[in-house]
Amino acid sequence: MKRALVTGSSGLIGSESVAFFDQLGWEVYGIDNNMRRSFFGPDGDTTWNLERLRRDTRHFTHHEVDIRDRHAVFDLFARDRLDLIIHCAAQPSHDLAAKRPLDDFTINALGTMHLLEATRQHCPEAPFVFMSTNKVYGEAPNEKPLVELATRWEYRDPVDSEGIDESCRVDASLHSVFGASKLAADVMVQEYGRYFGMPTVCFRAGCLTGPNHSAAELHGFLAYISRAVRERRIYRIYGYKGKQVRDNLHSFDVCTAFLEFYEAPRAAAVYNLGGGRPNSVSVLEAIDRCQDLLASPLTVEYVETNRLGDHITYITDLRKFRADYPGWHITRSLDDIFRELTGR
Ligand SMILES: NC(=O)c1ccc[n+]([C@@H]2O[C@H](COP(=O)([O-])OP(=O)(O)OC[C@H]3O[C@@H](n4cnc5c(N)ncnc54)[C@H](O)[C@@H]3O)[C@@H](O)[C@H]2O)c1
Repeated sequence: MKRALVTGSSGLIGSESVAFFDQLGWEVYGIDNNMRRSFFGPDGDTTWNLERLRRDTRHFTHHEVDIRDRHAVFDLFARDRLDLIIHCAAQPSHDLAAKRPLDDFTINALGTMHLLEATRQHCPEAPFVFMSTNKVYGEAPNEKPLVELATRWEYRDPVDSEGIDESCRVDASLHSVFGASKLAADVMVQEYGRYFGMPTVCFRAGCLTGPNHSAAELHGFLAYISRAVRERRIYRIYGYKGKQVRDNLHSFDVCTAFLEFYEAPRAAAVYNLGGGRPNSVSVLEAIDRCQDLLASPLTVEYVETNRLGDHITYITDLRKFRADYPGWHITRSLDDIFRELTGR
């Protein structure tokens, strides 16, 4: 039986990965210490998701380990041979990173280093999948000329219409503390691929979503809007007139990308990963759709100042990943995602 280690296994992408590989008949070890609750309070608590996994999977073992605890991480790697590492544990929010920069850096950068080095020492041939972020590009994507439409900011130049590709520069730009700590990890993951020849990949993701997000105001865009409508919470829009655009990818389609990479790994691979143009939506458009589906109004508060380092329009250019892995397809449309999140 093949064996995968998934960090952040109670979170959105980690939990989907556990269920996905368990379904394929793999044994899956999960690492999560419910740090999301400490970051985001009760909204972020992932206990329910861990319980769901324990109930619904066949070969899943949970380890309440902090990835900052190097000895605990190395002990786990020493126990059994691992065939695949999926690293999703993170401090995932821009805004929170500025309040807790040491937690942010030690988790996102140093924690990744622990996992890389444990992999190198114990199972260097196992593909190492790192969930990176499009925030590694900092504000550089905002340099694309835009036009203002009724409900969204759109790229002005038709050559930009596919979105942002991997050639976007990563330096000389404001990243937010979060973007910078993820970039440190991203570069190190590439280095373990290039220098040591290990099969590593950085997936620089846009907005990922799905039903198993413990959605909080500071993290989980679509899931939080849907939660705010359902629970009649006030929703705050930060700047850009609410016309900021994100493309959205369902967590299931993230896992199929992981599987593609596992089956044909490369060293030091870097891919942008997102829903692409068809799955793109602005904040205003997303609010409209959720209100329609739930037949309930949302109270919106508009805050003039945008989030520091926030993208205005970000659409993922998927051409590089699709060229290298032509078997990968997006199976969940934007409307599928809205319907699943709202239960309609
Ligand atoms: N969700 C998105 O829209 C998105 C977008 C781009 C990149 N990403 C990246 O994808 C990865 C997964 O994102 P997600 O949405 O599933 O996040 P998530 O917050 O839902 O899951 C992360 C999990 O990691 C756990 N964790 C945090 N610190 C830990 C630590 N020190 N030790 C052990 N576990 C710890 C948390 O408790 C949480 O369950 C992250 O690296 C994130 O930066 C996510």
